[in-house]
Formats: sequence, C-alpha cells, structure tokens
Amino acid sequence: MSDCNLYQDKDADWRLRVFDALSFPTLILKPDRTILAANAKFYERNQTWAGEIIGRTCEEIFPHARSMQKPSCRGPECPLHRVLRHGNTQSVVHKVLDHDGEEVWEERVFSPIFGDRGEVKYVIESLRDITKVKNLEKKYSDVRQLIDKVVQSSVSGILAADRKGEIILMNKAAEELFGYTVHDANLINIEDFYPPGVAREIMRKLRDENIGEKGKLPSTQVNIITKTGEEIPVEMTAAIIYEGGKEAATAAIFNDLREKQLVQKKLEEAESQLFQSEKLASLGRLSAGVAHEINNPLTSILLYGNLMKEKLASDHPLASNLNYILEDAERCKEIVKNLLAYSRQTRPSKDVFFLNNLVGESLRLIRDQKLFMNVKIVKELDDCQIMINADKNQLCQVLINLIINAFDAMEGSGTLTLKTYRDRGAGRAYIEVTDTGGGIPQENLSKVFDPFFTTKEVGKGTGLGLSMAYGIMEENHGRISIKETGPQGTTILLELPEEPAGNEYHFMAIG
Ligand SMILES: Nc1ncnc2c1ncn2[C@@H]1O[C@H](COP(=O)(O)OP(=O)(O)OP(=O)(O)O)[C@@H](O)[C@H]1O
Ligand SMILES: [Mg+2]
Repeated sequence: MSDCNLYQDKDADWRLRVFDALSFPTLILKPDRTILAANAKFYERNQTWAGEIIGRTCEEIFPHARSMQKPSCRGPECPLHRVLRHGNTQSVVHKVLDHDGEEVWEERVFSPIFGDRGEVKYVIESLRDITKVKNLEKKYSDVRQLIDKVVQSSVSGILAADRKGEIILMNKAAEELFGYTVHDANLINIEDFYPPGVAREIMRKLRDENIGEKGKLPSTQVNIITKTGEEIPVEMTAAIIYEGGKEAATAAIFNDLREKQLVQKKLEEAESQLFQSEKLASLGRLSAGVAHEINNPLTSILLYGNLMKEKLASDHPLASNLNYILEDAERCKEIVKNLLAYSRQTRPSKDVFFLNNLVGESLRLIRDQKLFMNVKIVKELDDCQIMINADKNQLCQVLINLIINAFDAMEGSGTLTLKTYRDRGAGRAYIEVTDTGGGIPQENLSKVFDPFFTTKEVGKGTGLGLSMAYGIMEENHGRISIKETGPQGTTILLELPEEPAGNEYHFMAIG
C-alpha cells in the first residue's frame, strides 16, 4: 500500500477526523523524515497550509532560527531516529520563539505507528506548549532554593526527621552543634541526639494539646548529646509536620545555651563581687574611725599601766591583776593595728617579680615555725617563670594569711599544697593554696570575707585576714575566691594579671 493509501482507505475517514480533532498540533512523519500529514491545529497554530508542509522534512519546517537551543535533528540524538531504532515513544523539550517572538517551552512527543510486520511505518509527532508547567517548575525550584538558603544560613541548628526518626534535614549550624555531618546523621536515629527517654518525652509533649498548640512545642530547655558524647544545654522549639492530617515528620530548631549561661554566671559573679566590695569599703571606713578613736585612750592605758608595773613590787597582790590588764590592752593594740592596716587607703607600690618567688618568700616569713611541724608542704610551681607587676609586700601578707588559715584548719597535721600556673591566652596568673582541713561550712561561705567574721576562739583570730586579702587583691587588679571547699579540705584561688613578656627590661632594672 502506497503512503497515500492512508487517505484513500475508506475506513480512514473517521481517523482523519479524530486526527484533526486533536487539541495538540500533530504531524505524521515517514521514516525518511518527510511529513505525510498535519492536523488542523498544526495549520492553525503555524498559520500555514498543506502545500507548504506536506512532503517537506521537519528540519525544513522548523527552522533552527526559531529554536533557542542547539538543534538535535542529526544523529542518534534525533528523537525520530530513536523511535525508529527502539520502537517506543520518545520526547524532547525545546525552548523556542513563537510567532509573536515570545519564548515558549515546547515538548515534542514522537510515537511509533507500526505496520503489519511490526516495523515502524510512521511516526506521529505531537507538539505541546508546556510553558506554564515549566514556569511553575521554575518558581517551585526558586522557592525551594530560597528555603534551602534560609535554612542553611540560619544561626540556629535545624533538624527534621521522618516518622521512623531518620534524619531528613540537617543544616550547617546543626552539624556544628551536634558534631555530625549530614551523611553521618543518616546512619543514626533522632533518639540518639538526646539523653535516654528525652526524644519520647518531646514527642509526648508535641502531641499533648494542653502543652502549646497541638503539634507545636513552645521554647523548652533540654540537653542534647553530641557525636563526642558531650551533653550540651539548648533551647529548643519543635513541630510536627502533618500531611493530609497524618504525622509525616518532625522538625526542631536548637540554640546553644552554653555562652548565654556563661555570661549569666559571670554577671552574677560580678554583681556579688560589687556587693562585697561596697560592703567592705563602708566597713573599712567605719573601722578606720573606730580604730583612731580607740588608739589614743589605748596608748594611755598601756603607758600608765607599764609605769604602774615598774613601780609595783612583783609580789604585790595587785601585780597579777595589772598584768591581765596589760595583756588584754596589748591584744587590743594588735587588733587596732590590724584595723588600721585593713582600712588604710594607701596605693600599692608595684614591682615586677616572679610569682614562684612570692611563694618561697611568704613561707620564709612565717615566724611561728611550730606550725610546720606535722604539716607536709607540697610546692607545685609552674616551670615557666610567670611575671607579675604588683605590690610584693602586700601579696606576701595575703599569702601568709592564707597559709596560716590553712594551718589552723588542719589543726596541726595534714598537707598544704601551693600551686602556681597561668592562662597565657587570658594573660592571667594563678596561685592556689590547698589544705586538707575540715572545709568551710556552706552557711559561712558568704561571710568569710566580711571583716571580723571568725570561727576561731577569742584571742586566736580577729576575722580580718580574708577581708584584708580581698582588699589587697582588688588594689592589685586581682581576685581572691574559694575555688573548692568540703570535708576533704579547701582551695583558695588568687588570680592576678600576668605581666607581658616584653616588659622584662623593667624587671631586670629593678631586679
Ligand atoms: N582554709 C580554711 N579552712 C577552713 N575555714 C577557713 C579557712 N580559711 C578561712 N576559714 C574560715 O574563715 C574565717 C575567716 O578567716 P579570716 O582569715 O578572715 O579570719 P581568721 O583567720 O578567723 O582571723 P585572722 O585572720 O584575723 O587572724 C575563719 O575564722 C574560718 O572560719
Ligand atoms: Mg586568718
């Protein structure tokens, strides 16, 4: 049957009507690429007629000038060629210019029409304008890309998991927070990101309509577990993602709380230190006034008392009473001396010296060597020579006070450890005084730096040692704090600014 038989066949009539009724422009091509027929929609859309189309090749009627992409009519890329070769439907998508010069996306679908022997006899090509679909696809992909960028650039960690708890989304901040890459995370379950039972508890709260809106968990503080097993406090909000009313996934946003908590702690410390400084300053002024007032009458008591003692025979019945008066007056003198030292407003006279030398010197200056008898002294001094620019005499006084407190706490036997070290990055130098005494009871912790607070028996302590140490450390831009205390002993920490290495010449000059 010749090619024209398609039209001469008496049964072909209704098929041609169907062909013309197709809403897509459609062509029937012969294997040699020439056009056998075109439907009404094709003529209408291309504003052409059969005489210009029939018998010509598709390459001729679709000049490449119209196509905005490289033509693919030659060789194995040609869809007609592929239909002839594989015997199945093939398609290509082109961006072309329509008759008004507008860019449109066109999909050309090529399907085989088989002959009696199963060979591809003709190929039917239909052209579909898919510009709307393509534009929607582009919009969708632009929105997706934007959402991806928003998620990835978020400073909060964002995680999403499917119903089985498998991770389906993890942004950069979450990778940094949890220490997993998104690839590692694929291998583990969301439950492993929390301490045991926490993930289930979060899901329970998410589903509970009495806690926030259903499927939403308001900001909550939880601990998460990183890849290295570290527990980190975070603030978290979470939501269930529903699809068609069913739970499809959960998503959560995390913010690391470590820095916030650190700042909070520092703020509280600074506030309590300020309070302590103000309290000590006003007590200092009060003590100075009292000490001055008592000093003059006390000097008279001692002067006249000693004169009487010289005149009184040693076996006089009042001699022992006079001795008691003089001993107690001496003790008062000592207290007044300490009070004046505590409240004096002198500026420290600063020198540059090695921190380790301060430790040795303070130990040598302790007069009452009996104290050392049953106490083991351990020195853990930093190998590097740490330089300090401060009032050495004042710091010796602080260290001696701490060492005597430690001896008192150990009641004659134990171990006293003196340790020096530094934090080079922070430019700080440290001395720790550790004893194996009974520790400071919790209820006394806030009072030990107060002047006159003592737990020692009358005559043994005035309660001025730690408050003086506090004032001296402040004057020297340092700090004193109780690092640790308990039934095993106490560690008092002194912290000072380290002198930068470049300032050695000054040290050499005075050393
Ligand atoms: N290392 C320590 N172990 C246990 N308690 C201590 C220690 N250091 C200080 N304390 C407690 O703090 C109180 C105050 O100490 P602080 O040095 O100010 O005064 P003091 O030692 O009692 O008297 P002073 O130092 O004036 O002779 C002490 O009485 C004691 O209760
Ligand atoms: Mg003391």
